[in-house]
Amino acid sequence: MKPLRIDILTLFPGLVSAVLEESIPRIAREKGVVEYHLTNFRDFAQGVHQAVDDRPYGGGAGMVLKPEPVFKAVRHVLAADDRPAHMVLLTPQGRRFDQQTALDLSGKQRLLMLCGRYEGYDERIRQGFGWDEISIGDYVLSGGELGALVITDAVVRLLPGVLGRDESAQEDSFGLGQHGKLLEYPHYTRPVEFEGMTVPQVLQSGHHAEIAKWRLEQARKRTQERRPDLL
Ligand code: ADE
Repeated sequence: MKPLRIDILTLFPGLVSAVLEESIPRIAREKGVVEYHLTNFRDFAQGVHQAVDDRPYGGGAGMVLKPEPVFKAVRHVLAADDRPAHMVLLTPQGRRFDQQTALDLSGKQRLLMLCGRYEGYDERIRQGFGWDEISIGDYVLSGGELGALVITDAVVRLLPGVLGRDESAQEDSFGLGQHGKLLEYPHYTRPVEFEGMTVPQVLQSGHHAEIAKWRLEQARKRTQERRPDLL
């Protein structure tokens, strides 16, 4: 199978590559299940200053991302590969990102993510490419890069062979795995006693059925206490 191709268009490729070069995103690339292509769309801007933003028509605070360099860059990047790209625009106005969306995106052949900066995108950018507009939460970031990285991380860890055990992505919180949409149960490792706090007896028992039962109860209890909206 061909690796998932992820294109990220950003004015700060260094910010993005720093994250992709560590931990799971890096391991996924080294295993050959994903390839990352970063493009600085300032390279597609005109003039000595290579401006990518301009003042808003109608006045008001802040600058707006210009359409020309973005359209040029997107077209250039799309032409680099004949696989169809799922087009993601990072914006606080988008639909909220969640585990189901991560799962859906992990099944695509190619993702192209556009990271805005400044106050907003010229509306013609929005109209341009049939974007899936995605927000990573109800807060405003200085740009879409952290959003693109959140999506990339959540997606690539779902690709086959990236995590050590196949089920470890399944059992995570929201993993939609054997426990459904529940938060994860508590985990323990050695030592058995630490500063007066001990590992529950059942986990030390080696009794697999009892352990599974305890974990499911704990997962339900946690979800009830912390995120009843998930039940
Ligand atoms: N850009 C700025 N804020 C954002 C958010 N919350 N999600 C995605 N992209 C963004």
